[in-house]
Amino acid sequence: MKRDFLAVSDLSRDEIDHLLQRAAALKSGKDARACPLIGRSIGLLFEKSSTRTRVSFEVGIYQLGAQSIYLTPKDIQIGRGETIHDTAKVLSRYLDAIVMRTFSHETVSEFATHASIPVINGLSDLHHPCQALGDLLTILERKGRLRGIRLAYVGDGNNVANSLIEASAIMGIEFTMACPKGYEPPPDILDRAKALTGRDVKIVRDPKEAVKGADAVYTDVWVSMGQEKEASQRNRKFKKYQVNTALLSVAGEEAIVLHCLPAHRGEEITDEVMDGAQSVVFDQAENRLHTQKALLEFLVAGAVRESN
Ligand code: CP
Ligand code: NVA
Repeated sequence: MKRDFLAVSDLSRDEIDHLLQRAAALKSGKDARACPLIGRSIGLLFEKSSTRTRVSFEVGIYQLGAQSIYLTPKDIQIGRGETIHDTAKVLSRYLDAIVMRTFSHETVSEFATHASIPVINGLSDLHHPCQALGDLLTILERKGRLRGIRLAYVGDGNNVANSLIEASAIMGIEFTMACPKGYEPPPDILDRAKALTGRDVKIVRDPKEAVKGADAVYTDVWVSMGQEKEASQRNRKFKKYQVNTALLSVAGEEAIVLHCLPAHRGEEITDEVMDGAQSVVFDQAENRLHTQKALLEFLVAGAVRESN
């Protein structure tokens, strides 16, 4: 049976632990020359722009011995009305896995339903699970553990927040979020997290309340891809939710600052914090590469082993 990775909750706690250990080993250079995907082809079908996800996947795929094929809807017949269903069936006959970046989450989940190859969500409007894996490795590297870490997320209840909520619930991270009313994560994300932890996800209005004593402070853009028309309203609503030196001063002394990037410097985060000593944002970006290589080994090389 093929495995997909559409949301963090598609993996168990043990599987995530295994991926993080494997990613750390790959990062340290262990098995640097192993090419478990030699001769394989992995597609990247992207509806939205990307710097980190595209490049880290393409480089990781090459390092594992496979080739990547980058596609946008304009390049293929999907842009002229061929169905997701038919495209999934056809691409499954050529490719060994596909990474997708979509607007609607339904697009990637419908594709996964009809594809016979592993489908990896490289960001949809609802989830960004590959980002969360890189985030977990970054927190683990800096803090030495995940369980009991106090993570404060300041900003929009978006795809990045949703995946962090799931990752936190599974890995035992104490997650608190500060956001304006009306910008909370969707109820089903909150319900699923509650089912795992037995507690409501803590959501507060005051960013200082969320950040007080935190081990890690996370933020993301106020206007995600596809929300450009809401930009002026969102910029107004989120004004008080900037991660700046004053806000960071209420976090734990050793607190780290995370951002999935791209950042809108001067909006959700200041230059001072982004470039400050507590910022780990570029480690996070690097860790996308190592965690995604571990994920590809697990989903694709694992599948290859089973079919041989
Ligand atoms: N963090 C992230 O996914 O960045 P990109 O949009 O550049 O891929
Ligand atoms: N929330 C952002 C994340 C980008 C990596 C967006 O969806 O645009």
